[in-house]
Amino acid sequence: MVMVPISPRTRSHSGYAPALLPAPASDAHALGTRRTRWGNRRTSRVTIAVLISLVCAALLYTFSLRSQEGERGSLKEEISDWLPDGLTSLKNDWAEEVEKEYEQKHENHKAPPKPEQKLLPPLYQRFHTYELELPQHDPSLSYPEGRTGKYFWPANHVRGSGWGNVMQEHLMNAYLAYRSGRALVFDNYTWEDDGSDYSEVYGGSLIPSRIPFSAFLQGPAVGGSFSEGDHTPRAVIKEYFDEVCPRPQIIASEELVPLGDPSSATERMRRWVDKLSHSDRCVEVRKSSYQIFDIWIFGQVDRLLDIWPAFSKSPIMTQLQWSALVELAFDTNRELLLPSPTVIPPLTSLPFTSASERYSQLPGLLVLHLRRGDFEEHCVKLSGWGSGFTGWNSFPGLPDPWVFPPEDASTDEARRWYVLRCYPDIDEIVRRAAEARQSPAGRGLKAVYVMTNGEEGWVRELERALREKGGWESVASTKDLVLNHEQLYVAQAVDMLIGQRAQMLIGNGFSSLTGMIVMLRMANGVPLDSNRFW
Ligand SMILES: *[C@@H]1O[C@H](CO)[C@@H](O)[C@H](O)[C@H]1NC(C)=O
Repeated sequence: MVMVPISPRTRSHSGYAPALLPAPASDAHALGTRRTRWGNRRTSRVTIAVLISLVCAALLYTFSLRSQEGERGSLKEEISDWLPDGLTSLKNDWAEEVEKEYEQKHENHKAPPKPEQKLLPPLYQRFHTYELELPQHDPSLSYPEGRTGKYFWPANHVRGSGWGNVMQEHLMNAYLAYRSGRALVFDNYTWEDDGSDYSEVYGGSLIPSRIPFSAFLQGPAVGGSFSEGDHTPRAVIKEYFDEVCPRPQIIASEELVPLGDPSSATERMRRWVDKLSHSDRCVEVRKSSYQIFDIWIFGQVDRLLDIWPAFSKSPIMTQLQWSALVELAFDTNRELLLPSPTVIPPLTSLPFTSASERYSQLPGLLVLHLRRGDFEEHCVKLSGWGSGFTGWNSFPGLPDPWVFPPEDASTDEARRWYVLRCYPDIDEIVRRAAEARQSPAGRGLKAVYVMTNGEEGWVRELERALREKGGWESVASTKDLVLNHEQLYVAQAVDMLIGQRAQMLIGNGFSSLTGMIVMLRMANGVPLDSNRFW
């Protein structure tokens, strides 16, 4: 996550405390009243001249002291203390003059602006307000909505996880609610639910403690309508659930699926749908109990994919849309990702039909997903655990499936085996990108977009290598995206949308973010061989 520092140089005049900068009109008035007390015009002219010289001298003195200290703050603020009030406007002009001169002189060796003040993350209140006002939040609606309606509140949903993990669980819970004919009760994307607004993550940066789901998504999974003729009740938020379900029946997930139970996703779905069919109209899953669809299910292809044929055709998936905030970020950066000679209608201008039509592949675009940062260690750990690719990255028929290291490989050999596919270096990345373009599914590729959490220096080096050695028409990365303050904290979703629309993807098989992209692409029916892995 990136904080946006406000540099001292970009501060405008209006950024100064108003007490130090009285409005010009009141200055003139003050000067006028003083003049009568000072006697005749001549005396006052002399007085002013002397004052001016004094002020100039003092100003230059202050200034030289300050430049010796090598520290530049606001000159105006410094000198306001000892200047007669009446001369503030003159003072401001001088100060500006001197500052301008200093700037001209020192243009070539300006110190980088110090991050002075950090902008706090946004709280997305307008999205929460929008959710509160959803039309289904109306107790007078008839069954299965309203005060006699049927609800399912998975209070045990995952918290404090990356967006990829949260999204996959949310979609599955939404599918369970759909299958049982109940309204899903949804929460925020929650990092911390201790009531705080901001949470500190890696290295002290702040993120919002929660973000309403509607800042990421639209569609039936987050309260949108089902298509006509489908009588599934629409999803609601927790506040409304509390109103219509003051005393819900609480079910612990362990009752249905004991810890370590090897059941598949379909089997768990069956048990829950069955249980819900003869439970109270208001059901809450005990907050402290295990997730219904946990990381173990999402990690194992044999237990996950049996649910795919039905799940992928459900309205939860076919009607899944990105939020306007996310789509707008895509539209804003469209030309950066894939320069085009013709005008392409922005996503946000098109009515929604289906996910597969809206998020069709963009011919020419290759997307690379490179997990860096914590993955340097994580990749080595994976080798220790003997992990394979995650479930969504293991659809049968995908090229580049995971192959375990040979049985007799030493620890070091096994590590290298994992790192090659989990943490590829620049040469390998350039080579694979070139190879992708030669493959049948990669015909016509011309632009590369690098999706990454890597460090700036490394990303720039990779971009350079791709440009120089790869001969790509256009190369851009996550670091180049133009995002507003609200988009910055949902940037993973923006990347997902870009990856979903790539002509070809080369992703990290161990990453749940790549997994979600592959899953969305599979739901849209892209050719199998357009999904590749390192
Ligand atoms: C979701 O976040 C909003 C603030 O953005 C908060 O008012 C609301 O209580 C949160 N919902 C839950 C269920 O915690």
